[in-house]
Amino acid sequence: MRARKITEGVYWVGVIDPDRKLFEEITPLPDGTSYNSYLVRGKEKTALIDTVEPEFCDVLLDRLENLNVDHIDYVVSNHAEQDHSGSLPMVLERYPEARILATPRAKKMLLELLPLPEDDLGVVEDGETVDLGGRTLEFIHAPWVHWPETMFTYLREDRILFSCDLFGSHMATNDLFVKDEGRVLDTARRYYAEVMMPYSGPVRRNMEKIKDLPIISIAPSHGPVYDRPELILEAYRSWVDEVPRNLVVLPYVSMHGSTKKMVTYLTESLIEKGVRVQCFNLADTDVGRLSMAMVEAATVVFGSPNILNGMHPKVVYVAYLMNALRVKARYATIIGSFGWAEKMDEQLKALLGNLRVELLKPVLTLGLPGKEDYSALDELAAAIARNHAAVTSDWGKTQSEEVTAEGHPK
Ligand code: FEO
Repeated sequence: MRARKITEGVYWVGVIDPDRKLFEEITPLPDGTSYNSYLVRGKEKTALIDTVEPEFCDVLLDRLENLNVDHIDYVVSNHAEQDHSGSLPMVLERYPEARILATPRAKKMLLELLPLPEDDLGVVEDGETVDLGGRTLEFIHAPWVHWPETMFTYLREDRILFSCDLFGSHMATNDLFVKDEGRVLDTARRYYAEVMMPYSGPVRRNMEKIKDLPIISIAPSHGPVYDRPELILEAYRSWVDEVPRNLVVLPYVSMHGSTKKMVTYLTESLIEKGVRVQCFNLADTDVGRLSMAMVEAATVVFGSPNILNGMHPKVVYVAYLMNALRVKARYATIIGSFGWAEKMDEQLKALLGNLRVELLKPVLTLGLPGKEDYSALDELAAAIARNHAAVTSDWGKTQSEEVTAEGHPK
């Protein structure tokens, strides 16, 4: 296993994992992932930045051996989560002289999570530097990208930012640098939606912190290295922006067709009024794709029949997830059909406690929707269009080219 050269003296020594299907046992990984570890050689000292998922530690050690690394002075731990720090005990076993450098919070967490001797861990403060001999590592505390202890490491002379989980993409590509920008952006957007979206505030603050740093490359902990950093920085600026886009996301389930009729009618009515819509039939949907759509949507309309005296469990799950992901939507409501119980709007309100959403008037109908229900859906569409005209950043631009007649993304 060979190391891959980023520039003279700086190498990628990580692991590509195309077989991983889930992260944290919830996040789908349709493109696998990578665990990136980087080696930096100065004239006098050598540092390893992050390690890999422990089951692949032998790959990391093999790449270091092939690079003739017989001594490591520092192992920088940007993040205590297992996929980056889980191999620390094995790395220390092979390189017992190495000292782990981490934020004070990370040190505490590493000692709680891993069998490590406390004496081997040192703390670095925000802005502290380490001289490797002609190369300087600067540590930038960046809490909550993804856990509270996270930090960036900046290699000053080469202007490389090792950004930890931030700006990553779950992608098992063998490209060291970004080659296919469209594909990487799509994967990075999925990663943002599933991993970073709940922390959009801290992400904004940490991006502000590095905005004047001269950066030639961004080397994240997952996915390829950005040799055109503006690609991912510009995308993130848009994703973390608090102003939503003119988009309704409509996740729904229909058991016997009535709710589906309402979903189809509302979609048509919204498109007619200049509102973009993306529908997701939860009977068979990729929750990652749904989360990606939620990144910029101004309104979420849930479509659900009533079952077991409440919303369909698949809709409940998505409402719970959207609440946990803290989507930026400003408005939400529910439409659907019921047989004998109609309390779904109260249930939805209870599920969205984290969100600063205004709940719009629901449209719930007994059995098949009739003329009055369709009028109510037209009124709902008109209210959404009015709201979007007032609060979205792209109102009035071309609306319909990205959706099919049913509102599914093409
Ligand atoms: Fe890639 Fe938060 O771990």
